[in-house]
Amino acid sequence: MIKVKAPGKLYIAGEYAVIEPGTPAILVAVDKYITVTIKESNNFGTINSAQYEENSVNWTRNGNKIVFDNRDNPFHFLIEAINIAEKYVKENNKSLKFYHLSINSELDNHDGRKLGLGSSAAITVATIKALCKFYNLNVTNDEIFKLSAIAHLNVQGNGSLGDIAASVYGGWIAYSSFNRQWLNEQIGKNKSLKQLLHTTWPQLSIKRLNPPRDLQLLIGWTGSPASTPHLVDKVNTNKNNHKNEYKQFISDSTNCINELIRAFEQQDLTSIQKQINNNRLLLNKLSKISNINIETPKLTQLCNIANKYNGASKTSGAGGGDCGIVIINKNQKLNDLIQEWKQSDIKMLKMNVANFEN
Ligand code: PMV
Ligand code: MG
Repeated sequence: MIKVKAPGKLYIAGEYAVIEPGTPAILVAVDKYITVTIKESNNFGTINSAQYEENSVNWTRNGNKIVFDNRDNPFHFLIEAINIAEKYVKENNKSLKFYHLSINSELDNHDGRKLGLGSSAAITVATIKALCKFYNLNVTNDEIFKLSAIAHLNVQGNGSLGDIAASVYGGWIAYSSFNRQWLNEQIGKNKSLKQLLHTTWPQLSIKRLNPPRDLQLLIGWTGSPASTPHLVDKVNTNKNNHKNEYKQFISDSTNCINELIRAFEQQDLTSIQKQINNNRLLLNKLSKISNINIETPKLTQLCNIANKYNGASKTSGAGGGDCGIVIINKNQKLNDLIQEWKQSDIKMLKMNVANFEN
């Protein structure tokens, strides 16, 4: 029996800008996991999960054609991860087998509400890793990243894939996306997965960061789920109407994240906090340009309460709900902050950064 896990993630800074290839963001992996178990079987296989199945799907129309939107359904990431892993197995001249595959997620709340911790990325990474292990394929982290990114891109299409990087490498990372148009062209030219794994992907950059010792990360959950792909669609639609403001946002965010990376290298908590506040302001500007609600009233409350207790705070990821983060000194007492959050229906998620070397 094979048992493999992959962690969820949180964006720390650089959201939306990171969608542009080569533009930096910072993420962490959290110690809540998706576990995939595989057991060999005969003649037929099964896939089962307490949390994920083919349930409701959104759809629209393109002319007379019905178009399904599977981007918020982790089940579709699981299926595509299996397709990509099996394609790689065949390229390695191994014969395919039957198996029972089961999934368990710690990244969803008990009543099935998603926490916004990157479950679709973690399910993709865990499935790719588990199948590579099941078929005895030796793969490096870089290769797991590439296989998972291809599978995730085939389903969602508009993400930066930073969540995949956090789930593969763990810890704190600085991430810049590869040129996704280039990858789609390579896939269109029928390049094999083996060829793609052996090629350098333009503009991709993944670097580990070490947080200063006195840094503490807090995560507040608003209780309302948000759809990342739909928010990103809106930013993409509106960026052409506000070309100059959008360009300015990408350049300001790049400077902010580069300062943040320098502050990590210098172990300088005060400068990290300054840039977190700065990134919050930049995202609020983007929100106006794009006509989307990134910092909802609940997230504003979350940040303002944290500010009262000397925490630097911002939305995490696409915003619109899900989680906010706080960067605060380890010595700061947290009881009052957590109490005020509670009174505003904001829940502190008890989890740590997932650090692992494999
Ligand atoms: O909401 P999350 O945690 O899925 O993060 C989305 C971050 C974006 O930059 C808005 C999109 C992306 O794919 O990077
Ligand atoms: Mg989110």
